[in-house]
Amino acid sequence: MIISFEGLDGSGKSTQIRMLSEKLEMIGKKYTVLREPGGNSISENIRQILLDKNNYAIENETELLLYIASRIQLVKNCIIPLLNDGNLIILDRFADSTTAYQGYGRGMDLKVIRFLNNFATIDGKYMPDITFFLDMETDASLSRMESRGEEINRMESADSEFFKKVRNGFIEISKNEPGRVIRINAANIKEKVFSDIESVLKERNII
Ligand code: TYD
Repeated sequence: MIISFEGLDGSGKSTQIRMLSEKLEMIGKKYTVLREPGGNSISENIRQILLDKNNYAIENETELLLYIASRIQLVKNCIIPLLNDGNLIILDRFADSTTAYQGYGRGMDLKVIRFLNNFATIDGKYMPDITFFLDMETDASLSRMESRGEEINRMESADSEFFKKVRNGFIEISKNEPGRVIRINAANIKEKVFSDIESVLKERNII
């Protein structure tokens, strides 16, 4: 079982993943959290290239292929062995981020992205079973991101028009795949957001 969390930067993914981890811990379910891009040393190296602000000259095609390369490495190197070992996998971002950020945000060809995501997930076999799209107004997520006080990385330094397109991308994905992608109102307080997530997981007999 693979569960992914998606949404704009600042939408509260990390908090919800932490709350879910605590719940899984409590009920004694074996799980692993992996982040994208990253999750293993090679993908973390790729992450450095992608998020380094000095790499502003990176071409859209290069950016896309690096996210895909990082994903393939994560699938083959981590996800498959961990699943075989009986883990529930929780992903902090995955294939939908590429569709939303590189496809809708950067305006790259969605057919190419579909092909590459399919390639990275071994013909879709390792696509998530459930994806929680934590949705909130773009301006609200941007101000949350800025108030974190952390240094803004290369992706986060894009303008608000870009993030509006990304959000729209996530909304489109959730409309196109309503069985897999569940849109959650992330503007609510974190306890309410978590109880919405918990209800879906209970309904599907996962927890
Ligand atoms: P990160 O600091 O992990 O952001 P967050 O904490 O919000 O998840 O940085 C990852 C950045 O990379 C984030 O801005 C989204 C972007 N991204 C893409 O553009 N395409 C992708 O396929 C993935 C996985 C992430």
